[in-house]
Amino acid sequence: MALSFGELYEQMTQDTLAEVDRRTEPDATVLDLGAGAGRMAIPLAKSGRRVIAVERSSNMLAALRTRASGLTPAHVARIETRHASITNAGRIGPVDLTLCVFTVIAYCLTEAELADTFRTSFRALRSEGHLLLDVPDAEVFESMEIESADLIRDVSMTEVEPHVFEYREHTILRTPDGPVELRDSFRMRHWRVREVTTTLREVGFTSIEDVTDRFPSLGARYLIARKPNISSTER
Ligand SMILES: C[S@@+](CC[C@H](N)C(=O)[O-])C[C@H]1O[C@@H](n2cnc3c(N)ncnc32)[C@H](O)[C@@H]1O
Repeated sequence: MALSFGELYEQMTQDTLAEVDRRTEPDATVLDLGAGAGRMAIPLAKSGRRVIAVERSSNMLAALRTRASGLTPAHVARIETRHASITNAGRIGPVDLTLCVFTVIAYCLTEAELADTFRTSFRALRSEGHLLLDVPDAEVFESMEIESADLIRDVSMTEVEPHVFEYREHTILRTPDGPVELRDSFRMRHWRVREVTTTLREVGFTSIEDVTDRFPSLGARYLIARKPNISSTER
């Protein structure tokens, strides 16, 4: 991803860290839903936060652990990994903030999965905690080809039912040890912002704020949803 998206990838990480800084104390606990290889979990642990990283792919979790092995023992101790689905991750929390970023909601193919993912966050959050998520733009669901000195990446997107796309990737990384070939395929759903905000409200979130202006040129709308005061409305 870093090789494909260059500076924008680093900018996305820095913009997200800045938003976490704005919303939480340096020793806060962050729930990272669909944590991948730890793009956010690693720098958050370094910043002093505790991170609960939920990820269903064992390969991604293995990559996260490999990256974490380069950290100090104190930093490593701040990352808890959970091999689970974000739709049903068990008892978590309380946490101060949830991240659900870099197209994670597009992996939810049904309204029930989207609602269950938001419910995982809602239940884990402390009263008045926040969920930060991105809603990918339509362009994210277009086929693309990238060729550079480092890689050839071919991504095809085929709409197989309304708003649901078959993602197929064939990538060749040019490494010093020779070419490395990667193939992947799965389905993704293009959620509309209104569908997302409606589901967030159904789950119980309030005060949904559009903060896209703090995430410029990243091909997504960024939203912050707030859990209300626990004493009045917790479910
Ligand atoms: C594009 S990656 C984003 C990773 C990370 N959030 C980041 O910002 O770099 C999406 C990740 O979400 C994970 N994911 C998708 N659906 C999931 C689910 N239902 N439960 C757990 N992880 C999921 C995928 O395995 C993948 O690692």
